[in-house]
Amino acid sequence: ATEELQKVFDDKIAEEIRIEPKDWMPDDYRKTLIRQISQHAHSEIVGMLPEANWITRAPSLRRKATLLAKVQDEAGHGLYLYSAAETMGITREEMVDQLLSGKAKYSSIFNYPTLTWADIGAIGWLVDGAAIMNQVPLCRASYGPYARAMVRICKEESFHQRQGFEILLTLCKGSKEQKEMAQDALNRWWWPSLMMFGPNDDTSPHTAQSMKWKIKRFSNDELRQKFVDVCNEQADILGITIPDDKLVWNEKRQHYDFGEINWNEFFNVIKGNGPCNKERLAARVSAHENGEWVREAALAYARKKAPKSPS
Ligand code: ACO
Repeated sequence: ATEELQKVFDDKIAEEIRIEPKDWMPDDYRKTLIRQISQHAHSEIVGMLPEANWITRAPSLRRKATLLAKVQDEAGHGLYLYSAAETMGITREEMVDQLLSGKAKYSSIFNYPTLTWADIGAIGWLVDGAAIMNQVPLCRASYGPYARAMVRICKEESFHQRQGFEILLTLCKGSKEQKEMAQDALNRWWWPSLMMFGPNDDTSPHTAQSMKWKIKRFSNDELRQKFVDVCNEQADILGITIPDDKLVWNEKRQHYDFGEINWNEFFNVIKGNGPCNKERLAARVSAHENGEWVREAALAYARKKAPKSPS
C-alpha cells in the first residue's frame, strides 16, 4: 500500500500538482518541510530585531512610519509561516520552544548588528533583496500551504527592498558623510548577504533531494549568482562599490565572477557564535516571558467563548 501511495505522490510531483496537508507524503518530505518552513518562520521573527533597533531613531516621521510597517510585515510573515508549518503536524509551542532553547536555526544574517541608519537601507536593499531572490521560486514549491504563503510574502518583500534602496539612494545623493555611511553599510552587509543563500552546492546536504521534491527550484549557488549579477548594476546606480576586488564580468559565462566567501565565519555564526546571537535569543526569550499574561488571557477568553458541552 505504501508503494501505491508513494507512486501517487511521485506522479503529483512530476505533474506539478501541489501536495496538500491531508495528502499522503513521505516522512522525509514532511521532515524537510517542517525544518525549512519553521527555520524560515524563526528568521522572520528574529529578523524584526535588528531593524526594530532603529524605529525610535528613524530620521523623519515618514521613515519611522515606513519602518514600523515593514517590521510589522515581518511579524505577519512569521505567523503565516508558523501556520503553514502547523499543517504538517508540528505545534506552534514546539516550534517556539525549539527557537527559544537555541535548538532551531534561523538565518545567519540576523546575527549582525545595525550600527547606523544606513544599515536599515542596506538591509532592505541586500537582505530583503536576497530574500526575494530565494523566495520567488518558493512560490512554486510543491507543498501548497508554503507556496501560497510565499506569494503574499514576496509582494511585501519587494516593497521592503525598494524602501531600503531608496534610503541608500537618498544618502548617496546627500553629504560626503552620508555617502560614506552608505558605503560603510555596504562593506559590512555585502558578504553576510551572500551567506544567506547557504553553503555551496557541493557542501549543501539538503539541496539535491529538495530539488527532486520541487521544494527548491534552484540551488544555493544558482540563486547566489543571480543575486550578485543584479546587485552590481544597482550599486553602480547608487555610486558605491561592492567590497570585492574579484568581482568582474565574465563574458564567457555571462555572469559576474566573485571572490570566495568566508565559510568559517558562516559556520561559526550558525553555530551560535556570531556577533549578536546571544543578544537576539535573549530578546526573544524575554519577549516570550513578558507575553505570558497575553497568552493566558487569550486562553481564558477562548474558554469562556467556547460552546458549552450539552449536559
Ligand atoms: N543561515 C542559517 N542556517 C543556514 C543558512 C543560513 N544562511 N543557510 C543554510 N543553513 C543551514 C540549513 O538550514 C541546514 O541546516 P539543518 O540541516 O541543521 O537544518 C544547513 O545549513 C545546510 O544547508 P542546506 O543543505 O543548503 O539547507 P537547505 O536546503 O534548507 O537550504 C536555504 C538553505 C536556502 C536557506 C533554504 O532552507 C531556504 O530556501 N529556506 C527558506 C528561505 C529562508 O529561510 N529565508 C530566511 C531568511 S530571509 C528572511 O527571513 C527575510
